[in-house]
Amino acid sequence: SPLHPFLTRLPKCEHHLHIEGSLSPDLLFALSAKNSTPLPPITSDPSFASPATLNARYAAFSSLDDFLAYYYIGMRVLVTPSDFSDLTYAYLARAAREGVRHAEVFFDPQAHLSRGVSIDTVVSGLLAGRRRAEAEFAGRGAKRLTVLFIPCLLRHLPVSDSAACFELMQSKGYFSRGDLAGLGLCSTELAKPPGDWAEIFAAAGRHGIRRTAHAGEEGPAGYVIAALDELGVSRIDHGVRAAEDEGVMERLAREGVMLTVCPMSNVRLKGVERIEHVPIRKFLERGVRFSINSDDPAYFEGYVQDNYCAVQEAFGLTVGEWRTIARNAVEGSWCGEERKREIL
Ligand code: ADE
Ligand code: ZN
Repeated sequence: SPLHPFLTRLPKCEHHLHIEGSLSPDLLFALSAKNSTPLPPITSDPSFASPATLNARYAAFSSLDDFLAYYYIGMRVLVTPSDFSDLTYAYLARAAREGVRHAEVFFDPQAHLSRGVSIDTVVSGLLAGRRRAEAEFAGRGAKRLTVLFIPCLLRHLPVSDSAACFELMQSKGYFSRGDLAGLGLCSTELAKPPGDWAEIFAAAGRHGIRRTAHAGEEGPAGYVIAALDELGVSRIDHGVRAAEDEGVMERLAREGVMLTVCPMSNVRLKGVERIEHVPIRKFLERGVRFSINSDDPAYFEGYVQDNYCAVQEAFGLTVGEWRTIARNAVEGSWCGEERKREIL
């Protein structure tokens, strides 16, 4: 499309990127060898024969849970602070090349703690990767890259495990120091209503911690409302199933709640058959704010620019519509007002 150079230049914010989802099959195999982390018990899965067979398997995910099984196995190769730092730097360098000015990066602390990798290892690695990227792009003024980190609690584990993880992060002072910018919630969605995490999210709210949650990806529009009412979130990750309910969309529009939509992810995880079925047009018409994001780019074979281009191919948006999307993405960011003005 003739708009692709414009889309690269457009100042972009990415709000929905799981750093563990940027682990490519090539790097997965390299780190597995370096860290002597075999990939049991799935080594019996022929998909783990090589990066190529793994990539082929990724192209055939049948659902969120089918993807998550591979995602949680893949991240077992992340062991040392430099593994997390290198992964973070590599993503940020790519994002900067694609015109991302502000990135909010998710990570899954419980999936590392459960394997004996400490929270200090994970967070110090993330912060080191950010330092390296910010130093490299520091001289670019408004075009520099700012980065925030958001830990996500995991819904496939008991709520008590989430509570312990939140307490641990609190005890380390990560939120009060600003190392971590907010709290998220992800992993399997069906049969895991948001309200089960209400107590933890209420505690976060009392400490002034911003909150977001994956909702309305596979789960119904009612989970989007539950995340707003019972978790006090100020935005919604995915949220695409809100399009099934006019009342829900009306509320999102009225309250200015931003959805962090991930079009290629929705196709790969079979939420929709094609990008054309992601409710981009509906959200624009109803005034529902959203940003466009990659989710797990190494697993869905598309970084943020690929997602912008896929949306353009499918919907043929105008320059004006793209400027609205970009402005809403800046305004829905958790950076300071000064930085928002700088990006705009
Ligand atoms: N963890 C990583 N990617 C996810 C997604 N798309 N939905 C829920 N949990 C996730
Ligand atoms: Zn996600």
